[in-house]
Amino acid sequence: MTKKSVKDIDLTGKRVFTRVDFNVPRNEQGEITDDTKIRAALPTIRYMLAQGAAVILASHLGRPKGKPDESLRMDAVAARLSQLLGHHVQKVDEVVGEAVSLAAAALQPGELLLLENVRFHPGEKSNDETLAKAYAGLAELFVSDAFGTAHRAHASNTGVGQYLPAVAGLLMVAEIENLSKSVHHPLRPLVAIVGGSKIADKIGVLHNLLRSVDTLLLGGGMANTFLKAKGYQLGKSLVEDDQLTAAAEIMQEAAALQVNLLLPSDLIVADSPQDVPGAQAVAADSVQAGKMALDIGPQTRKSYGDLVSKAGTVLWNGPLGMYEVDAFAQGSIELLNILAQSEAFSIVGGGDMIAAVEKAGVDKQISHISTGGGATLEFWEGKELPGIAVLQEI
Ligand code: 3PG
Repeated sequence: MTKKSVKDIDLTGKRVFTRVDFNVPRNEQGEITDDTKIRAALPTIRYMLAQGAAVILASHLGRPKGKPDESLRMDAVAARLSQLLGHHVQKVDEVVGEAVSLAAAALQPGELLLLENVRFHPGEKSNDETLAKAYAGLAELFVSDAFGTAHRAHASNTGVGQYLPAVAGLLMVAEIENLSKSVHHPLRPLVAIVGGSKIADKIGVLHNLLRSVDTLLLGGGMANTFLKAKGYQLGKSLVEDDQLTAAAEIMQEAAALQVNLLLPSDLIVADSPQDVPGAQAVAADSVQAGKMALDIGPQTRKSYGDLVSKAGTVLWNGPLGMYEVDAFAQGSIELLNILAQSEAFSIVGGGDMIAAVEKAGVDKQISHISTGGGATLEFWEGKELPGIAVLQEI
């Protein structure tokens, strides 16, 4: 780890502008359905408060369009944070402006202030200089613990770092260290499992993973596109027809690089995601017209499981089936259980996988659960993430 962290700096009496990623999933009533990302930031927040810092927290929530959106205010997050910390969290209803400046100026060592959803401000996503300076004006130090947002160059996670000393929080350190270890010094065999519904946003990472992994296991909706590229009929399954060439190229590249790329040999199919009683396992080349693939089948679970149990390192992004429906989460759950029992150094990343790990109840047995979705993929893709680049070197 070459970046400075909160442990390398005297925090006593300092006002700290702290970017966290509290972009948590919510239900239609706006209730938080998974607080993993809030919990993940607690060690940094507790550490800074204990050191006598006055902590100003900033995060985005969802994708508001640069203006206030009542359903995306941070109040539920403030309440959950306060409950988890057992500490009062003062919340302001603006991102910047007089009320925010006054609240920040009045903040005492050991106190916490949470700003409104930073994406309510039009300058956040455009990394506006004036906004970045306004954030910097609230504090003497910038701490970033928002690994999940590190692939975005926005004002509160990158721009502000131009105007304040910028260091990593403890979650950011753990993410960088674990992800670096998994790609730069992996214990072999290195197995990557990539699932999820779409390949369009995973082409880059698949190409890059082929350069480092020994085995690539594909599942989820995206595997259908590969199966179709091999000439199989997939019935009503989700297939990205505009990505068939990209899928074929990835398979050719894997062969040229002698990477063991595996596709599901069998699938669980049904008439629709609601048709749980009609679910049945079929060979991947025998999906009937009118059926859709919703999970990997038992043979695939066994063959993928054998490879996972012998792996030195496993990187996993994206579920292998429609995990939101319990009946079609079984492939992911079975493989997660095999991973949990294996000796492999394991990294599982992305919001869907956090939920799948929760369903499987194996969070304690996974070496590192990354809070990054897109950020983890871009890290594995070998890209420099702006939210990391901005942090000071040791
Ligand atoms: C995430 O959930 O992956 C991060 O919070 C980033 O969110 P975004 O994709 O809306 O920038």
